[in-house]
This record gives sequence, C-alpha cells and structure tokens, in this order.
Amino acid sequence: MDAFTFYNPTKLIFGEGKTTTLVEEMVVYDRNVLLVYGGGSIKHNGLYDTVLEQLSHAGCHVTELAGVEPNPRLTTVEKGIALCREKNIGFILAVGGGSVIDATKAIAVGARHDGDIWDVITKVETPRDALPFGTILTIAATGSEMNSGSVITDWERNEKIGWGSIFSFPNFSILDPVNTLSVPREQTVYGIVDIMSHVLEAYFHPAENTPLQDRFCESILQTVLETAPALLNDLNDVSLRETMMYCGTMALNGMTQMGAKGDWGTHILEHAVSAVSDIPHAGGLAILFPNWLRESVDVNPTRGAQLATRVFGIDANGKEARDVALEGIDQLASFWRELGAPTRLADYRISEDQLEEITDIACGNGIFGHYYRLDRADVLRILHASL
Ligand code: NZQ
Ligand code: ZN
Repeated sequence: MDAFTFYNPTKLIFGEGKTTTLVEEMVVYDRNVLLVYGGGSIKHNGLYDTVLEQLSHAGCHVTELAGVEPNPRLTTVEKGIALCREKNIGFILAVGGGSVIDATKAIAVGARHDGDIWDVITKVETPRDALPFGTILTIAATGSEMNSGSVITDWERNEKIGWGSIFSFPNFSILDPVNTLSVPREQTVYGIVDIMSHVLEAYFHPAENTPLQDRFCESILQTVLETAPALLNDLNDVSLRETMMYCGTMALNGMTQMGAKGDWGTHILEHAVSAVSDIPHAGGLAILFPNWLRESVDVNPTRGAQLATRVFGIDANGKEARDVALEGIDQLASFWRELGAPTRLADYRISEDQLEEITDIACGNGIFGHYYRLDRADVLRILHASL
C-alpha cells in the first residue's frame, strides 16, 4: 500500500433521535448563526421547526439562507458569503443533503477569505481559515457530512468543480436516520448509486497489498446490495434508513482510501456531464460507471474480477479474468437498473452533439483517473457507449 496520513476532525453524532442534541453542540459555538437549507424539504418534514426550536433554546440569533439548489451554484455561495459578512455571522449550520453541505463549506471558507471564492474552488488560491460549521444530514448519499469535499457549479463558465481543504471539514455532523424517512424513492435510489460509486472509485486503485482496504470496500458494497432492495420496499423503515446512512458516511470519509489512491475518473466525467446538463449527480454515475468499468477491463481486469467474485458471487472457475469481471459488471448494471436508476444519457435528453463539449470539460486538465488513465479518445468511447 502507499504511505499515508489520515486526518478527519469531524465529530460524528449518529442515531435515531440525535437531532435534539443540537442544543448541546451549540454550547461552544458563536450564537450568531447562518442557517443554510435547500428547496423546502425540511419545512415539509418538520425538521425546520425542530432546528429553529433547538437554536432558540441555545440562545442563537438566526439568519437564513434558503433555496440552495441541487448541484449548488456559485451565485448562491456568493450570496451566503455576503450574508456572513453583512450580519457578522460566527457559525453556520447546514441542514440538508450534499448540495446544502457543499455550499456551506464554500461559504464558510469564503467568509474568511480575502479574495474570490472561485479562485479557491479552482485551486488558484489556498484557503487559510474558515468559519466553523455543523451539519444535520437529511439524505444518505455523498458523504459530505464527514469529509472536506465540496462540488460547486458556475453556470456562466459551465464548470462543476470539486475542491476541499483542511478547513472544509464540518466541526460536527448530526446523522439522525429519522430525518431521511421523507426522502422520495427516486432520490433514495440516487443516494444508493452514489454510495456504491464512491466505494467503487476507491476500490479501483493502482496500489498493491491492500487486503484490509479491499475488505472495507467489499463489506460496504455487500451491505448496500443487501439493504437497498428492502429499503425500496419500505421507505419508512428506520433501521434500513439507518444502515444506508452509515454506509454513505463510511463510503467517503477517508476510511476506504487509506494507503490507496482511488480512480475517481467516473466522478470527473460525471461532473463534466452535469456542467453541460443539470442532471442529478448519481443519475449520471449510474449511466457512466458500468461503461467505464467495461472499458477498464481491457486495460486491467484484475480488480474487476476480484469485485465480481467477492461481491457478486461470480464463479471464476476455468474462466478468463476479463470474462469474470464482465459478468460482475453486468450484475452491477442490472442491480441499478432494477432499482430504477437511469441507464442512458438519452434518458436526460443528452445527445451526440454534446459529447465533444463534455469531453473538452472532462479533459480540461489533461489525462485523468488513477487506475485507468483516460485520454480524449477513451472519454469519447465511454460517452458514446453511454448515449
Ligand atoms: O432542496 P431540498 O428541498 O432539501 O430537496 C432535496 C433535493 O431536491 C431532496 N432532499 C434531501 N433531503 C430530503 C430531500 N427530500 C425529502 N426529504 C429529505 N429528507 O433531495 C434532492 C437532492 O438533494 P442534494 O443535496 O442535491 O443530494 P445529494 O446529497 O445527492 O447531493 C448532491 C450534490 O453533492 C455533490 C454532487 O455533485 C451534487 O452536487 N457531491 C458531493 C460530494 C462531496 N461533498 O463529498 C461527493 C459526491 O460524489 C458528489 O459529487
Ligand atoms: Zn458521488
């Protein structure tokens, strides 16, 4: 395995009923709070009222930034930074999914950054500080609740960029599975696909001797494979929601990637698709990942074959590694299809004439992906197979 340093300062507060521990968490933070949330789901499921009540008990003065959009926009981040400065905000609370949390990370860093936040997102400038912030997660998907990553879209430039810094870890995250009960079926499916994709990105790495890392990944994938169909049968089952929430956090909090650099090419490709057409992140992944996997098998079938035998139970006896890997990939694709995930870019009305533009964006920084190095021709092949 590669030598590594692991750092994750986020305090994780997990379990049914934990939402009402917010008041205790707030004791050590500034009481002038910016509350950030999305398009209104927290008002429909009652979480908004609970949070306001908790903040009021903690003696907080609350300013609100509502309407953070899925695939959060730079303009919203800039609005949040301006509010922090104008109201002298000392703490930010994000209540929502990955989009709300990602926007909050950029606002927290931007509020303490002298220059333009876009220069931080594009890595032209390095942040030196951030406002403290906490999260209350409402959907199991991105893992943003316990990592430093954030993905922001600038529609003026058609760019969707992932960034992160040691200042963009949440100070705490409250994960109460009850808050995910209202996630509709379609979003639940997207969350499942995103969680599995994060594990797959980590699993497909070029490092040698990673037996424990491999088992971590395989155990998360197996748990999701077992849990997902039951959860979609009963979206109100708190225990299944709880399991999925825990899987989502463990899939992208750094644990699976100690000592091995995951591929992440499919995520870069999906972000390029989303920068051209505002589609759900995991909808794009469900379409692209099986095609990336099929292409990667021709370059190196080893890890695909291991995935197929260990996670999908494919019998490898007397077969070529390539064929074993392809059987596993077919099972993965069928699993996602049966859950109801999209299978073709055309499902989102993305057409052949947009593929060059997507390729330009994806290849903006040259060849990418750590396990399977993608150049323009590879990207175009994967996109054509995904149409
Ligand atoms: O906006 P509201 O009204 O809250 O509704 C949201 C939104 O429409 C809804 N939702 C969330 N919780 C709900 C709920 N509806 C009912 N009940 C609830 N409890 O779900 C919709 C999607 O929300 P969003 O936050 O966009 O979903 P997700 O968590 O999947 O986040 C996606 C974003 O995260 C980025 C993606 O690119 C995308 O922009 N990612 C962030 C990562 C990270 N920070 O580590 C890694 C990921 O790979 C990903 O790229
Ligand atoms: Zn993702």
